[in-house]
Amino acid sequence: MKPTPLFLGNWKMHMLPDEAAQYMVRFVEGFSSAQTQLPDTGIAPPLVSIPAVSRTVSRDQGVLLGAQNVHWESSGAHTGEISPQMLTALGVDFVIIGHSERRQMYGENDAHVALRTKAALEHGLTAVVCVGETEQEYKSGKTTEIVVRQIKAALEATPAEHVSRLVVAYEPVWAIGTGLAATPEQACAVHELLRQKLVERFGPDQGASIRILYGGSTKPENIGELLSQPEVQGALVGGASLKPDVFRQLIENGRKAYWA
Ligand code: PGA
Repeated sequence: MKPTPLFLGNWKMHMLPDEAAQYMVRFVEGFSSAQTQLPDTGIAPPLVSIPAVSRTVSRDQGVLLGAQNVHWESSGAHTGEISPQMLTALGVDFVIIGHSERRQMYGENDAHVALRTKAALEHGLTAVVCVGETEQEYKSGKTTEIVVRQIKAALEATPAEHVSRLVVAYEPVWAIGTGLAATPEQACAVHELLRQKLVERFGPDQGASIRILYGGSTKPENIGELLSQPEVQGALVGGASLKPDVFRQLIENGRKAYWA
């Protein structure tokens, strides 16, 4: 049985609380007027807008609430950081870890990703671990080496008992925000590689149940071809998640292609 596909919006540093609340009303209304269901969809607002989102939609409406980063300590002298307990106190369900913008602009490395992943999982959060090669690495044929190194670090930190709350996102850095998505074949090759690593680490049953999302310039027009690839079980969506109607259309097109 294929897992249900998962569509997560990463708003990055966009959307003030009021805008976030308006967005959520429109997003949920769009699904109810189209009479389609909304499970396995999530939004990761900037921290300041998380309460506005959780006030506007309830969990039973099916929207998962996310954060864009998490620290590994529970509390302490870590100016500017936020702990797993603080996220769960806000009602957060999932957290994006190791996004390439954090790796490239804020010096995050595999060791940080491992610590964040372990802490998030141990505190009941779903960990969405991002991996992906830069344009230079891609051009010099290093995709496999980079992606395997990144995923191994995260997987070694994942306790087997929490594996049901692990999600992997393949986001080629050259595809993020560029309008140039990976081709279905490119995505498929890396997703298959990631699947192999998941199965090696957790065995065939658990390893096969972890969802691997694709991210990088997804839009309603290209999501279908990506979601029809065998190892693509959803998407992590940046720019196209900023407009409720566009994101809803992307989800609907993606779902249709996935279950076709
Ligand atoms: P994009 O971003 O969809 O705007 O390319 C994806 C991401 O950064 O997760």
